[in-house]
Amino acid sequence: MDIHSTRTLHNGVQIPLLGLGTWQILSGPQAENVVGWALESGYRHIDTAAAYDNEQSVGRAIERSSIPHNELFVTTKLWNTDHLIAEKAFATSLKKLNLSYVDLYLVHYPISQTRIQAWKSLEKIAKTGQARAIGVSNFTVSHLKELLEQCEIVPAVNQVEFSPFLFQKELLEYCQKNKIQLTAYSPLTRGLRLDDDRLLDLADRYRKTPAQLLIRWAIQHEIVVIPKSSQKGRIIENGNVFDFSLTAKHMDVLDNFNENFRVCWDPTKET
Ligand SMILES: NC(=O)c1ccc[n+]([C@@H]2O[C@H](COP(=O)([O-])OP(=O)(O)OC[C@H]3O[C@@H](n4cnc5c(N)ncnc54)[C@H](OP(=O)(O)O)[C@@H]3O)[C@@H](O)[C@H]2O)c1
Repeated sequence: MDIHSTRTLHNGVQIPLLGLGTWQILSGPQAENVVGWALESGYRHIDTAAAYDNEQSVGRAIERSSIPHNELFVTTKLWNTDHLIAEKAFATSLKKLNLSYVDLYLVHYPISQTRIQAWKSLEKIAKTGQARAIGVSNFTVSHLKELLEQCEIVPAVNQVEFSPFLFQKELLEYCQKNKIQLTAYSPLTRGLRLDDDRLLDLADRYRKTPAQLLIRWAIQHEIVVIPKSSQKGRIIENGNVFDFSLTAKHMDVLDNFNENFRVCWDPTKET
């Protein structure tokens, strides 16, 4: 396994296990540099969203890298207020990214009144071939059950907050059973639990950093993982997780860190 290793989505599309998160990476030189460093250090998967306001810079960094799109995996997302104009919003994202297709297009959040309609639009987009795969984000088991009863295309991915401190086992098992690939966002708890003594102790044993342990834990659960960093050294560090593996015992130890700790929004409140 290495930084180019992939998981196969239910429609056969390959998604690299490790991607770069780009939330809060500022559009302009910062985003162009950060995405450029990630691509230079071997990342082949970039996660952006219309709401991050940096699609244009992601597109520029990709162009500057000269890496052909078919060797990359680019995800973007439909913002909440655009559910009823999804096709138009998608066209805008494509234009900003300066790409002729994206690899994955996600419904960013399961807004109650509009999520099913948004999904129907994503199905149309998928049929045009302009999104190689479509999926959802922040969907709970109950949101997924509702969607699976009504959809024509099963979402290929559900991107949710996931870390040992928010080990959503039931959601993981439900997704696995239904061939929906889980992607872990905020896998580093935005840094808020990286000084946990038990995690530091375990990281020492592997001569790795706490961030590397959290990323490796997700990968060993066969979860795609998209840590964000705006610093070159950390981008490299976060990608350097393919030269060790956690024992079954230590995976179990990390699984038991769960404290339902969220750093982002709580979609269980969305009926
Ligand atoms: N679908 C959704 O609703 C949703 C929601 C949230 C996030 N996401 C996606 O998931 C990505 C990752 O989540 P996130 O940005 O919320 O949080 P995260 O990846 O858990 O953590 C990012 C934070 O950790 C720091 N960090 C990164 N690597 C580190 C390292 N090796 N050691 C110490 N600190 C480190 C970063 O600081 P520096 O930048 O200074 O390194 C940043 O403050 C996002 O960027 C976005 O693409 C999606």
